[in-house]
Amino acid sequence: MTRIQPPQTDEFLTQARAVLGTTHVLTTDLAAFATDWRGKFTGVPLAVLRPADTQQVAALVKLCAAHGVGIVPQGGNTSMCGGATPDGSGKQVVLSLSRLNRVRSIDPLNNTLTVEAGCVLQTLQELAAEHDRLFPLSLGAEGSCQIGGNIATNAGGVQVLRYGNTRDLVLGLEVVLADGQVLNLLRALRKDNTGYDLKHLFIGSEGTLGIVTAAVLKLFPAPHASTVAFAGFQTPQQALALLGLMRGALGDRFTAFELMSDASVALVRQYFPDTPALFAQTYPWQVLMQATDPGAGDGAQTALEASFQAALEQALEQGVIEDVLIATSVAQAEQLWAVRENISEAQQHDGHNIKHDMAVPVSSVAAFIDEVQPLLHGAYAGVRPIIYGHLGDGNLHFNVSRPPGWSTPDWQAESDRVNALVLDVVARYQGSFSAEHGLGQLKNHEMALYKTPLEIDVMRRVKAALDPQGLMNPGKFLPNGPF
Ligand code: FAD
Ligand code: MLT
Ligand code: ZN
Repeated sequence: MTRIQPPQTDEFLTQARAVLGTTHVLTTDLAAFATDWRGKFTGVPLAVLRPADTQQVAALVKLCAAHGVGIVPQGGNTSMCGGATPDGSGKQVVLSLSRLNRVRSIDPLNNTLTVEAGCVLQTLQELAAEHDRLFPLSLGAEGSCQIGGNIATNAGGVQVLRYGNTRDLVLGLEVVLADGQVLNLLRALRKDNTGYDLKHLFIGSEGTLGIVTAAVLKLFPAPHASTVAFAGFQTPQQALALLGLMRGALGDRFTAFELMSDASVALVRQYFPDTPALFAQTYPWQVLMQATDPGAGDGAQTALEASFQAALEQALEQGVIEDVLIATSVAQAEQLWAVRENISEAQQHDGHNIKHDMAVPVSSVAAFIDEVQPLLHGAYAGVRPIIYGHLGDGNLHFNVSRPPGWSTPDWQAESDRVNALVLDVVARYQGSFSAEHGLGQLKNHEMALYKTPLEIDVMRRVKAALDPQGLMNPGKFLPNGPF
């Protein structure tokens, strides 16, 4: 297939080929790079550029600056909000970081790992394990998302409760700035108060301030002992009581606390028919819990299981939970995790839903759910809220699936009204309208609704200082405006 390019574009592509060689400047078969994971956004890339190292990224960014070409960085393309998808103008390039996938060094004594942006998260977890360490960032997309994408979105996942967000796991960064200079912040230090901590500007900035090319990551002791359970009960208030009880009993050994409404679990069972029924009866709310301990040997495992079980028995006695299933093998633990991890994909199979990645203070989660559900049911008879997520962080995926009889386009057209219904309550609880997925092109306009004008103004000043041409991931993150 031949595409006739305007002369300027021809010149740009010729120069890009001079940097990368012809095979890594893609102009045909771009579908995989042009659509997001959810299939919600499809753009038209001018080309897909596949640099192999930081110097090539820098050269390409300089080239884009000279030609006024917008750059959309793309890692694993698992964004939930169209962050890595170009617009439809045919004037933006996708800069794929996949070939920057080298491990630069590992320092087990310093507990650090220095890697390039295109490393797939799961390979880093495996590498850490080979060195008897843990890299604790863990999320459903870990088999394909890349550490550069995780950093750019400040990804959360299922172990934030114990280890924090990506921001808490990054010690140093290497970033290609919008003018093509390489900012080397690759320090592996746990203490360094020498000026503004610039790395934090780039973490969570979704590629709008620079391209992350490498990072120094924190490692932790490997969890040699581990135990997982699933519990069922009636109300979100019980979930909060259980969280308090388990954390009290296990302290830092308590690493995950994931809430699921029964409708979420039912979707998984519908689309993944091999999923076993966990309980003899249905419980409106269920949680998956995990505790780990770095202690090695049978003694550590036995001790961890004993504390975990004692806490769960207490929860049963107090009526905080009504039923509980404790995994007795690694395979069973994986089966329990699969129920939780398969919810996103089950939702994909089920068709369009209006997604909310919200957070409120943990103590307010139950009140929030109790307030929003009746509002939704009052507005839309038969509406299906699919509620699940990281309750231990106050972060729920409060997704609203269409009521029976509604077509996908009609339900999509209802997004603004449903968003306002849910997010106005989030705002009243001093919450966040995007706790871990970021903004991309799905949520950026909500900034204008829920952030103060001064906050947005300060962000625009940062953006103008670092990207004066507005070429770094244009149209994402900030609400419509000069950029
Ligand atoms: P991409 O989707 O490619 O890009 C994401 C954003 O980062 C875009 O704005 C892109 O332009 C920018 N970007 C990518 N690489 C770079 C770079 N090197 N430099 C600068 N900017 C860059 N997210 C969570 O937080 N928690 C979860 O539990 C979670 N679970 C998920 C489960 C599933 C099944 C799926 C599909 C997604 C899930 N996500 C979750 C969302 C997603 O996986 C994360 O946002 C992830 O961090 C994105 O990584 P990626 O490499 O796919 O980035
Ligand atoms: C999750 O926690 O499963 C993810 O953030 C993805 C989702 O929102 O479905
Ligand atoms: Zn999540």
